[in-house]
Amino acid sequence: MNYADSERIASVLEKIGYKKSSDIEKADLILVNMCSVRQSAVDRVFGIATRFKELKTKNYKLTLRQAQGDGERSRTIKTILTGCVLKKDKIKFKKKFDLISDIKDLPRLPQILNTKYSIFNNQDYLKIKPKYQNKFSAFVPIMTGCNNFCSYCVVPYTRGQEISRPTKELLSEIKNLIRKGFKEIWLLGQNVNSYVSRIDTNMATNFTNDISDICAQISENSRVINFPKLLKMVNEITGNFWIRFTSSHPKDFSDELIDAMANCKKVTEYLNLPVQSGDDEILKKMNRPYTIKKYKEIVRKIRNKIPGISLSTDIIVGFPGETKKHFENSVKLLKEIKYDMAYIAKYSPRAGTIASKLKDDVSIKEKGRRYKILTEILKKTALEKNKQYIGKEVEVLVESRKSDVEGGNYILFGKTRTYKTVKLQTTNCKLQTNLVGQFVKIKILGVLPWGLKGILV
Ligand code: 5AD
Ligand code: SF4
Repeated sequence: MNYADSERIASVLEKIGYKKSSDIEKADLILVNMCSVRQSAVDRVFGIATRFKELKTKNYKLTLRQAQGDGERSRTIKTILTGCVLKKDKIKFKKKFDLISDIKDLPRLPQILNTKYSIFNNQDYLKIKPKYQNKFSAFVPIMTGCNNFCSYCVVPYTRGQEISRPTKELLSEIKNLIRKGFKEIWLLGQNVNSYVSRIDTNMATNFTNDISDICAQISENSRVINFPKLLKMVNEITGNFWIRFTSSHPKDFSDELIDAMANCKKVTEYLNLPVQSGDDEILKKMNRPYTIKKYKEIVRKIRNKIPGISLSTDIIVGFPGETKKHFENSVKLLKEIKYDMAYIAKYSPRAGTIASKLKDDVSIKEKGRRYKILTEILKKTALEKNKQYIGKEVEVLVESRKSDVEGGNYILFGKTRTYKTVKLQTTNCKLQTNLVGQFVKIKILGVLPWGLKGILV
């Protein structure tokens, strides 16, 4: 989501005449889009902000030298902080940045920077057309904010209440992207399953054939578009592309969604379903309203309807009061589910959250130990899952290429529908064909825990 926000920030800055600088020493404006989910991210911004001070001092000296008729061009460096910033940190960062601005105030950035432009006035910031970072994969935020208030999490405080974007706006945006040749659409939201938008009565008539039929069909039964219905609509857009989405909450993972995922051919066989803990007692303390039994039941249904789906999760170790016994349940769950990938985090108290009032009683060392144990299990299950690909031919979207100096060929990297990274050993790949952004058929010859290796078929 922060990445998608940065693409919108870049677009606003470019529209008012700023150009991207590859050298921070030469920049007139430095904007930091921060994340507050864990303290480590906040600490990193502190580090960066200290560097700004050095830059400003250096520039001040340049100004003095310039006044004496000597030296390089000086300029006023402006520094802005935006993104997810905690109230407490806003106070701390006040001295380090010239300005702290809420991401929702992005449309006002031209005025904030005292430019003559007022092009984005009163606009919802998500309506701003982003500057996409590549030509084949696009992030499309479908909703922002979160109403779940998991006890450890800052997002409901920093991003506020859930707001869904209108279906019509999303479909137009995605249709345009596909027309431009985009091959992968990521539908984004803190909690995509909560997407809800009331359908516009004349929406169906506003689209050309491929969309109007499905809109008419879907809106016949219901005027409210939920996430499964949105998936079906996006799936109807003509073109050869993949649909991915993140992130989902198990509490509202419905059968309707599982069916939509199974039936929509463009929706890829990959799902991130954060569990956060393998223990019911801890889940309760986390304010996650489901049990492990219920979670496993959802996974069973998903695997039943979508064989071969690759599954990832988010899991926290060392939540306040997590005993070795509680942790053993997380170990058990990872061994049982056999995830393809897991984003493991050490609990980090966040000011203002409910959990921050509980004693952070698992030591840093113990959190590290638990983190390592889960990582080792994941390494095994991921490798086991990856081995199933050996000898198979899979479709891959090529994402990047590097030149292999010795061989004179290119090494390509891409992703399967199941979101596995593939390294392409390209003895049969010609230098002149740039396959980045294209779908290719790959035969998998080797595997690692974190990826696959193959050759072009
Ligand atoms: N400490 C550690 N991890 C956290 N996450 C969210 N808040 C915290 C926290 N306070 C993790 C969750 C979430 C992911 C984005 O970050 O696992 O799913
Ligand atoms: Fe945070 Fe929970 Fe909302 Fe995810 S669902 S953003 S973890 S509060």
